[in-house]
Amino acid sequence: MTAISLAVIGGTGVYGLATLDEVETRAVTTPYGDPSGPVRVGTLLGHRVAFLARHGEGHSLPPHKINYRANLAALKQIGATRVLALNTVGGITEDFGPRVLACPDQLIDYTWGRISTLSEEPGSEVLHVDFGDPYTPMLRHKLLAAAKVTGTRVVDGGCYGATQGPRLETKAEIARMRRDGCDLVGMTGMPEAGLARELGLDYVCLGIVANWAAGCGTGEEITMAEVLANVKAASAGLPELIGELARG
Ligand code: HPA
Repeated sequence: MTAISLAVIGGTGVYGLATLDEVETRAVTTPYGDPSGPVRVGTLLGHRVAFLARHGEGHSLPPHKINYRANLAALKQIGATRVLALNTVGGITEDFGPRVLACPDQLIDYTWGRISTLSEEPGSEVLHVDFGDPYTPMLRHKLLAAAKVTGTRVVDGGCYGATQGPRLETKAEIARMRRDGCDLVGMTGMPEAGLARELGLDYVCLGIVANWAAGCGTGEEITMAEVLANVKAASAGLPELIGELARG
C-alpha cells in the first residue's frame, strides 16, 4: 500500500474532497476515543491523501465537542505525518477579506475547557513541547510553494485567534482580538495545532475567509448562507493546491 502523503482536515463547508479516486473508508479508533467520522483515503493527482471532516460529515459536532485528540491520533495511526488543516475563519484585518485563502504563522488561543493535551490523564507523561512557531515552518513553506506553482493566491502569514464558539463573537471581542494582533478568527484552530505538535505531526493551517468578523469590513450581519457561499467560492482551486502539496 502506498504511504499517505498528506492528511487533510476539512472545516465548515468542506466535508469531503470530491476529486479523490479509489477511496477506501477507514473506521479508526484511538486510545482517546473515536474521531469525528471515518477517514477517507484516496488518490489525488497520483498521491494518497487522507481526509477527515472535523465537524463530522453531517456537521453534527460543534467546535467545543470535537475530539481533537482522536482526530489527530487517528490520522497518525493510519500513517500520516503531515496534516493540512482547512479552517473556515472570519477576517479581522484588511488583507483578510471574504474569499481570501491565508496561511497564518501565529496563533492566540482564547478557547477554554477543551482537552488540550495528551498529558490529560493521570500518570501520563507531561509534555512541554516548543510551540513558538505553532505551524510547522517547512510545511508552511511547502504550502506557499504549492500555491505559487498552481497560481493560487494565498496570503503568507497572519495571526489566527481561536475562540470558543459556537456563537460568533461580539464586536468588542473582535476589537480586543485586533488589539492583540489577530488577523483571523476561527473556532477550531486550538487545541488542534498544539496536539499535532505533541503527537509529532507536521501541521499547517489554510484559513478560508468566509466573512468579515463582527464589526469589521462592511459591518453587516453574518449569515450561514454567506459563510457557505464564500467557502464554496474560495475552495474551487483547493484540489489542485492539495494535490501539489501532496506531491512535494
Ligand atoms: N468567527 C469565528 N469563527 C468563524 C467566523 C467568525 O467570524 N467565520 C467563520 N468561522
